[in-house]
Amino acid sequence: MTEKPILSVRDLKVYFHLDEGTVKSVDGVSFDAYKGQVVGIVGESGCGKSVTMKSVLRIVEPPGKIMEGQVLLSKRDNPDEYLDITAMNEKGKDIRAIRGGEIALIPQEPMAAFSPIHTIGNQIMEAIMLHSDVNKKEAREICIRALSAVGMSMPEKRVDSYTWQLSGGLRQRAIIAMAIASNPRLLIADEPTTAIDVTTQAQILRLLKDLQQERNMSILFITHDLGVIAQMAQYVVVMYLGRVMEKGPVDAIFHNPKHPYTQALLQSIPSAQKTTKVKLPTISGSIPHPFNKPKGCPFHPRCTRAVNGKCNRDLPSEFVVGDQQFASCYLYEGNEEFVR
Ligand SMILES: Nc1ncnc2c1ncn2[C@@H]1O[C@H](COP(=O)(O)OP(=O)(O)O)[C@@H](O)[C@H]1O
Ligand SMILES: [Mg+2]
Repeated sequence: MTEKPILSVRDLKVYFHLDEGTVKSVDGVSFDAYKGQVVGIVGESGCGKSVTMKSVLRIVEPPGKIMEGQVLLSKRDNPDEYLDITAMNEKGKDIRAIRGGEIALIPQEPMAAFSPIHTIGNQIMEAIMLHSDVNKKEAREICIRALSAVGMSMPEKRVDSYTWQLSGGLRQRAIIAMAIASNPRLLIADEPTTAIDVTTQAQILRLLKDLQQERNMSILFITHDLGVIAQMAQYVVVMYLGRVMEKGPVDAIFHNPKHPYTQALLQSIPSAQKTTKVKLPTISGSIPHPFNKPKGCPFHPRCTRAVNGKCNRDLPSEFVVGDQQFASCYLYEGNEEFVR
């Protein structure tokens, strides 16, 4: 790709130093996101998806600490130049201008988005006024437009409601309205539909897709659901135990996966044709405890193709396995190595 990414995460490491030991939640993660692209980040629970996203916004809670790596964001007015988010003071004005302004988050816990004691309108307006030079009346108009853009009927009335007066679906729409009100270039949606029922989930996914297309936003879409990834993402990053196992265009990941982990993950999807009597194949072995991450490739204890003396010893680099497709696996050692 000749175009430059708007976000480039490079060899990011985020550790939690606890009394019991060190949790290496994110342990060398790299991926890029381009303008107007939806990048799906998929992986089992606990693999470091949320911590990676919190690092992009510099909201990792203590004792979590960014140990190494860079999170580069292209400048809005000069896309050839980058700001390194990891180098910013997490309480400083640089990151505050980016957080909620250029990069917005739909958090994994929907209750975390709004306070119950203020109206959604007041909270959205406050966010708008933080990032643009408008007065209260103008902010209210922008807020009402955002509520309308996310498909809320009677936005002039709903703007004065409290979250507890809204259904789960409407609350989720209000959260999305808050996220898009400042016209972010990048939206991070961290499992945005896990807390809602399937019908509403389909509507919210549709809404996100429409907003993404209308505004040519980039989205980092985090989920543990491969079906949702297939529906939403153009590019997919597959994570396991704090590492990227494989990344590539959505078709390649689903139809031509190269990493044994991706292959195992895809086999574990329940297929509509299968009767319930057929036992679903699951990846054998359980995810190791984060304190005891295995040496070498973190997947080797569960991998049917692991090579003793190799996969249990060193971390493989990322090898080119297709067009824009990379796998961190010794099976492809003879291939070209991915270098930036
Ligand atoms: N505040 C914290 N304190 C200690 N460990 C944490 C904290 N937040 C996350 N972790 C650990 O980091 C790892 C990755 O977590 P997370 O990014 O939330 O996973 P997920 O992929 O499900 O979003 C997990 O092992 C989790 O236990
Ligand atoms: Mg998470």
